[in-house]
Amino acid sequence: MPLVLATDAQKAERDCVTHAAWGSPLTVEQFHQREVRLRAHPWCREGMRTWLLVDDGGQVLASCETFRTDSHLRGPDGVATPGVSEAIASVFTEPALRGHGHATRLMDQVAEHVAQEGQDRHAALLFSDVGAPLYRRSGYREAPAWDWNLPAVGGLSTHAVDALLCDGDVPEVMGRQRRPDVPFLLWPSPAQVDWHLERERVYAELLRRPRPEACGAMVGRSFALWAMMARYGELVVLLFDAESLEDSMALMEAARGVAHRAGLSRVVVWEEPGTLPWLARIPGASRVAREGSLPMLRPLRDGLPPAERVTFSRALWV
Ligand SMILES: CC(C)(COP(=O)(O)OP(=O)(O)OC[C@H]1O[C@@H](n2cnc3c(N)ncnc32)[C@H](O)[C@@H]1OP(=O)(O)O)[C@@H](O)C(=O)NCCC(=O)NCCS
Repeated sequence: MPLVLATDAQKAERDCVTHAAWGSPLTVEQFHQREVRLRAHPWCREGMRTWLLVDDGGQVLASCETFRTDSHLRGPDGVATPGVSEAIASVFTEPALRGHGHATRLMDQVAEHVAQEGQDRHAALLFSDVGAPLYRRSGYREAPAWDWNLPAVGGLSTHAVDALLCDGDVPEVMGRQRRPDVPFLLWPSPAQVDWHLERERVYAELLRRPRPEACGAMVGRSFALWAMMARYGELVVLLFDAESLEDSMALMEAARGVAHRAGLSRVVVWEEPGTLPWLARIPGASRVAREGSLPMLRPLRDGLPPAERVTFSRALWV
């Protein structure tokens, strides 16, 4: 069955059918507006594609999106080479067509297609909301998924950080981030982080809800960037790069204060090896198994470490 790229008209049609899965609390028209706006974002214009699996008569059987994500793979010589990994999202089969293997075929064909696009294609990744088994069939393996929750509290000040950050600060702050020396690194770009903030901007406008006063904070060489998930009452930390427990506590206190003032109930941080030692020592932080958004990886070439040894920051989520 052929795999094709969707035209703009087909994307609009898919917006109407996928609203049932991801549209709430937006109306169908608002959800379409959200999608149009996100597709127009610079990060999407650079590397987002909508794929359709179609039958011989041209009927769409299943669809998904891919987003080009920067990655670095260390070779046998120890040198890390930049390349591309494709993040897959919005895998969808209409209810009447489910259970016939269409999503599995789509996932197989997209990965095979992407792997053939160039020597620099490293991996396909996704964040499953339906567990691991469906995507395991297509060669994906899951990574551990733990969250740290911190309640938003009134009365917390932001005095312990050097500065709260606004959207325009993101490229400079990320430019100072130290790149970890690991065998395989998925490395979100400033444009990708701004795509998360664009989601926040879109929801704030459509739901007529104010945005939080800041999208992050910095102290010394440490920083955190975050975005509001209004639907869940959460402030989610997208990137967290801290050098000490003291810096971590200052950043998380700022996040909790900002979340409270934005009317959100908690701050959620994805556990990563680099931040686990700090998060575990922050008073009031609780560790919970993540529901949904299970990171999964399918290597597209030799030499990648197993998924459980790859770090997935929340900024990589699509
Ligand atoms: C998930 C989905 C894409 C599967 O499409 P499909 O074409 O029916 O998929 P396939 O026929 O290739 O595989 C079906 C398998 O997926 C499993 N599956 C479907 N929905 C599932 C869910 N919510 N939780 C766990 N497994 C699920 C089915 O149980 C079935 O497994 P089985 O063959 O062992 O019975 C489709 O159900 C859908 O569009 N759901 C709504 C959107 C969604 O949740 N997308 C996934 C986001 S990560």
